[in-house]
Amino acid sequence: MECERWVEEAARLFASARSLPEIEDLKARFLGRHGVVTEALRGLSELPLEERRAQGARINAAKREIEELLQGARRRLQEEALTKALAAEVVDVTLPGRRRGGGAAHPVMETIARVEAIFRALGFEVADGPEIEDDWHNFTALNTPADHPARSMHDTFYVADSEGMVLRTHTSPVQIRAMRAHVAVGGNETELRVVAPGRVYRVDSDATHSPMFHQVEGLWVGREVSFAHLKGVVTAFLTAFFAGEEVRVRFRPSFFPFTEPSAEIDVQFTEGESAGRWLEVAGCGMVHPQVLANGGFDPARVRGFAFGFGVDRLAMLRYRVSDLRLFFENDVRFLTQFE
Ligand code: FA5
Ligand code: MG
Repeated sequence: MECERWVEEAARLFASARSLPEIEDLKARFLGRHGVVTEALRGLSELPLEERRAQGARINAAKREIEELLQGARRRLQEEALTKALAAEVVDVTLPGRRRGGGAAHPVMETIARVEAIFRALGFEVADGPEIEDDWHNFTALNTPADHPARSMHDTFYVADSEGMVLRTHTSPVQIRAMRAHVAVGGNETELRVVAPGRVYRVDSDATHSPMFHQVEGLWVGREVSFAHLKGVVTAFLTAFFAGEEVRVRFRPSFFPFTEPSAEIDVQFTEGESAGRWLEVAGCGMVHPQVLANGGFDPARVRGFAFGFGVDRLAMLRYRVSDLRLFFENDVRFLTQFE
C-alpha cells in the first residue's frame, strides 16, 4: 500500500538526516504544499464516497505517523546539538582565574594621605580650596601687590577671558579661605589649626619643578605661637614623615610677602648620587599681621605661623626619585614600583 511506503520512507530519511534544516526539507517532501500526502488528500475528492472515506482514513493515519516521526527526528537532532555544545564548551573549573591588575594609589596621593595623617595627629584639621582661584585670594590678600613679580605672565597661568582668575600658584590662598570660613561660623577667635593639600600650577619645568605640582599648606593661629613652635611642628612632622630615617633639616632665611620673618626649609639627601645635596621642601614663616586681618582675625590678639610644603619633593625624598616629572608621565612601569 502506498501510504505505508510513505511512512517507511519518511522513517528512513528522517533517521539519516544530520541537521535540523535537512529535516525541514524532508518534511516538505511529505507534508509540504506539494508533498505526497497533501497531494493525495487533495485527490480524494475525485473518488466515490465509500472509497473516499476508507482512503482518507488511511492517508490521515499515515500523515499522523509521519508527523510523529518528524517530531522524534527533531528532538533527536536537538539533543545531539546540545550534547555536542556541552562537550565543546566544557569549563575547567580547576584553572586559575585570569587576574587584572588591582590598581593602587599614586605615590603622590599616598604621600598626601601620609602628610594629612601626621598633621591630624598633631591636632590640625584638613581644609581645601579651589584650583582656579581669584586674584584676591591668590595674591592681594597675601600682601602680593599688582606689581609683584609672582604675578608676571611668565610665572602664572591666567584663565583667558576671566577677570583675574588664575590657576592657583600655591596653596596659601587656603589660609585666607580657612580663616574666613572659621570666623564666619563663629569659631574660636584665638585658635585655628589647618592643613590644606592640593594641586598648584606654575610656569616651571625641570627635574625638581613641574608645571602642575602639589603643596600642603599649614596654618596655626593662636595667642602665643612663635617661630619656635613653627620649628617644633615642622621638625616633628619631618621626623614622623621620614620615620626612622636619618634626616638633616635646615631653615634658611627667605622672603614671602605674607610672612615675616620667613624661611625656606631644606632637607638633605643622605644616599645615592644626590647624597649631600640639599633640596628645598617648603617655605614658611610667621603670618603677616595684615594677612591675619584679611582672614578676619584680630592681629592685636593673635599671631600665627604658616608653611607650604612641596608634596612631590617630599615624595622624591621618600621614594628616592631623582626627577619629579616621572611622577606625572603615567608610565605604569614606573608607578607600579610604589604599589
Ligand atoms: C610658596 O609657594 C609659599 N606659598 C610657601 C609658604 C607658605 C611660605 C606659607 C610661607 C608661609 P615656594 O614658591 O617656595 O613657596 O614653594 C613652596 C614649595 O613648593 C617649595 O619649597 C617646593 O618644595 C615646592 N615647589 C615650588 N615650585 C615647584 C614646582 N614647580 N614643582 C614642584 N615643587 C615645587
Ligand atoms: Mg621657594
